[in-house]
Amino acid sequence: MGILNVNLKEKSYKIIIKNGIIKDVGQYISANKVAIITDENVNRHYGDRVASSIKGDVKKLVLPAGEETKSLDKLSLVYDFLLSFKITRSDLVVALGGGVIGDLAGFAAATVLRGIGFIQIPTSLLAQVDSSVGGKVAVNSPHGKNLIGAFYQPRLVLIDPLCLQTLDKRFFSDGMAEIIKYGCIKDERLFAMLEKENIDDKIGKIIERCCDIKRKIVEKDEFDTGERMALNFGHTIGHAVENYYRYEKYTHGEAVAIGMYNICLEGEKLAITPQGTAERVKNLLKKYSLPYALDIDVNQLKNIISLDKKSENDNINLILLNKLGEAIIKKMPKGELFTKGV
Ligand SMILES: NC(=O)c1ccc[n+]([C@@H]2O[C@H](COP(=O)([O-])OP(=O)(O)OC[C@H]3O[C@@H](n4cnc5c(N)ncnc54)[C@H](O)[C@@H]3O)[C@@H](O)[C@H]2O)c1
Ligand SMILES: [Zn+2]
Repeated sequence: MGILNVNLKEKSYKIIIKNGIIKDVGQYISANKVAIITDENVNRHYGDRVASSIKGDVKKLVLPAGEETKSLDKLSLVYDFLLSFKITRSDLVVALGGGVIGDLAGFAAATVLRGIGFIQIPTSLLAQVDSSVGGKVAVNSPHGKNLIGAFYQPRLVLIDPLCLQTLDKRFFSDGMAEIIKYGCIKDERLFAMLEKENIDDKIGKIIERCCDIKRKIVEKDEFDTGERMALNFGHTIGHAVENYYRYEKYTHGEAVAIGMYNICLEGEKLAITPQGTAERVKNLLKKYSLPYALDIDVNQLKNIISLDKKSENDNINLILLNKLGEAIIKKMPKGELFTKGV
């Protein structure tokens, strides 16, 4: 079992990583009313087990699976569910699922009654290593992804690596992209281990290492004004690729994989990233069934990046690798982006 403490100025919480914890979550959850939000896939595998292990008045809302669920429509359903359950500020919301459910349930918990406690039980690899830690919660708007959101930390994160046995292969690879990202930006040993070894029996330890890396970054920069930007390694290109294909061709992790390889090539051209780094990243992505080749014209890519609604002005913060295991942030005028070609 691994336990991490996330220490923030206003609030601290634990991340507990343990095989089989999904059937014992009731030991960690205590409130008069507990509202579980989940999706239909996760519910099929774990819904009853989680609900029956929690004491008290427990109600469950099961939503359709998929990114479309992170919408204002579904948020409204969640509000209706919580308010008709007459939930109070001393009760709890439990997010049981992948990043979609975590982000949606977390945003609902942050806003209903001006904030009630919530617990994350992430079940996808991406949610276990990334989205459940750090307190970013959001829904999508017709204007773009994650544009309506908040910083709202959970009370507790409970991670069961055994849940990954029921996850589709493609979603497992998706999470692997974020794990490779942590290796690239903070941990060369993790990167080398992913290259050399068979990770099947080490996934619990790997999840713990990734949560610990994210914990440290979030502790230093809870509100994403500096160091946390390193977590966006591969994401500038990745978001543009997702956007270009209207979120249909590639999953988030696949798009980030393409972004990581291509930003390493760019870093090599700028003589910031050591030669050969992109090749190592490419080989590791291939090992975990992830794509790497950019199949969009560079000018179109530049246009999408320049129009990004979250970017502030004419500059862009590119996250590059100084070397494997170390990221730097390079501010660059958008016009100079990829002038050497990707
Ligand atoms: N808040 C953050 O910091 C942050 C960080 C990264 C990503 N995200 C968000 O996370 C979302 C993506 O998360 P995701 O990839 O987990 O997607 P997801 O929640 O859609 O889960 C992927 C699929 O796997 C299924 N699933 C999940 N766990 C399962 C299990 N144990 N067994 C069987 N099926 C299972 C789900 O039903 C779904 O079909 C995006 O909306 C993204 O914006 C948020
Ligand atoms: Zn990501």
